[in-house]
Formats: sequence, structure tokens, C-alpha cells
Amino acid sequence: MIQQAQFVISNTNPGNCPKPDRAEIAFIGRSNVGKSSLINMLTGKSGLAKTSQKPGKTQLINHFMINEKWYLVDLPGYGFAKINVKVKQGWESMISTYLTKRENLCGVFVLIDSRLEPQKIDLEFLYWCGTEGVPAVLVFTKADKQSKNKTNQNIQKFLKKMVDIFEEAPQYFVTSAESAQGKEELTSFIEELVQE
Ligand code: GTP
Ligand code: MG
Repeated sequence: MIQQAQFVISNTNPGNCPKPDRAEIAFIGRSNVGKSSLINMLTGKSGLAKTSQKPGKTQLINHFMINEKWYLVDLPGYGFAKINVKVKQGWESMISTYLTKRENLCGVFVLIDSRLEPQKIDLEFLYWCGTEGVPAVLVFTKADKQSKNKTNQNIQKFLKKMVDIFEEAPQYFVTSAESAQGKEELTSFIEELVQE
């Protein structure tokens, strides 16, 4: 159970992250997919991670300390069209350096909008994670926004794409920051991961 959650530090430079002396997990995914909202839902603190209806809200690497035992990290989204090329390249190199170099990182949760058909940018990002050995787990978000049927259809399509690329489907969770769907399952999974 997450009993305590507090903000630690925001960074643009992965080298300035807190000392890697405890387990860490991170949330990544397209801009506006619901990374920050999911962090607030899991921690039960609505204002902990800043959210916005406009994509591009989170621009830094944000560390939160959970139960004084492990770090949870909110990252900027990828695939945000409305920023200039320099800024975009800056984010991309910051995120890829963080994901490939952070030694205490034991899980990367890739958030996928459950309302959408499989998106090329997500598949490409997951492929990149595979080639770099980044330990990715899928989290389908915003399940409250459509029928269960529609959610399941989109998930099945996405998993099929994953099987085409990796020959097996990765572990996945279905969540809603609105209804707290998936909270227990995802929390237990994360807690096992950080205790290993
Ligand atoms: P960036 O920081 O810009 O990359 O976005 P983000 O992925 O952190 O998304 P954020 O959590 O800021 O949420 C974006 C918008 O989606 C906000 O308006 C949220 O209220 C909304 N949202 C996020 N998750 C859910 C959800 O599960 N259900 C519903 N209905 N809305 C959601
Ligand atoms: Mg955010």
C-alpha cells in the first residue's frame, strides 16, 4: 500500500537525479495519456503530480519518494507535436539517457490510451525499449472513457501488434485515474517489483 508520497526533485539532467540508493520505477507515454493523473490516483494525492488538459504539461524528470522506501518518477510525454524541434530533441535525449542509464530503475510503465487503435509512435517506443533492454510494462489508461467492450477491442489489437514484434505479449494493466480502476493490481505489482 502507498501510505506516504512526497515530491523530492525535478530535473532536466538525468545526472542530477537523487542518489540511486533505492528501487525506482517510472511512468512514460505520449503527452496527455495520463501519466501524472495515474501517479496521483495511485498515491491518493490529487495535486502531487501536475496535470493538465493540454499536452506537454510535464517537462522535467520528477522524483517522488514513496513510503520512504522507493522512488516513483513522472516523465515528460513523447510525441508532442507542438514544441520546437530543439526542445523536442532535448526531451528525447533526456528521456532516453534517463531510461538507459538509470541503474536503480527496475520497471518502466508505458502508458497507452485505451481509447485509441494501436499508434505507431507507441509501438516504435516499445520497440526501442526492447532493443535497449528497458524493462517495459503496459498500462492502458482512461478506461472510464468508453465501454468495456471498446477498451478490450483496442487492447487486443495492441497486444496483437506486440506479439508481431516481440513474439509474446508483455504484462499489462487496465486503469482509470477517474474511477481508480486497476489501482490494487498495479500497486501490488509495483510493490513486488521494488522489493526484489
Ligand atoms: P503530459 O505531462 O503533458 O505528458 O501529460 P500526462 O500524460 O501527464 O497527462 P495528465 O495526467 O496531465 O492528463 C491529461 C488529461 O487527461 C487531463 O485532463 C486528465 O484529467 C485527463 N485524464 C488522465 N487520466 C484520465 C482517466 O483515467 N480518465 C479520464 N476521464 N481522464 C483522464
Ligand atoms: Mg504529466
